[in-house]
Amino acid sequence: MASGHGAKVMTGGKGSKFGIPIKRTIPAYKRAKDLGFDIKGIHAHTGSGGEGIEPFTDVAEILSDLTNEIRDKAGIDLEFIDIGGGVGVPYRLQEEETDVEEMASLVTEIIQEETDVKTVVIEPGRYTSQTPRFY
Ligand SMILES: Cc1ncc(COP(=O)(O)O)c(C=O)c1O
Repeated sequence: MASGHGAKVMTGGKGSKFGIPIKRTIPAYKRAKDLGFDIKGIHAHTGSGGEGIEPFTDVAEILSDLTNEIRDKAGIDLEFIDIGGGVGVPYRLQEEETDVEEMASLVTEIIQEETDVKTVVIEPGRYTSQTPRFY
């Protein structure tokens, strides 16, 4: 899955230099377990400059499904789900601010309903350092 404001910051899709394709997740977790890694969680980053809440609820659904599949197929109980960053920051007058509290509560609700995971992580980079609008 990928969002973002330009090809150079696309973080998903075929040929992306980031992460691993979803279909390789279970073999990767099994291999890491076989190698003796102490596996704690799962992480995704949809991309910077996405708009609205939907990319985050989508990624929460996907990571919840993967978390359950990892438990069932690889025998690993994950402790956290990390939905990454990419919260939209308005740079232009017509762009709207993301309702981060609504996003966080929807994401948490999905993860709580669908998994046993107790910790949800978010990595808001630019959102936390945005300057006041000057237009
Ligand atoms: C893995 C990861 N998390 C979080 C961020 C922060 O993104 P943003 O500043 O758009 O919130 C980035 C940005 O590249 C990232 O690669």
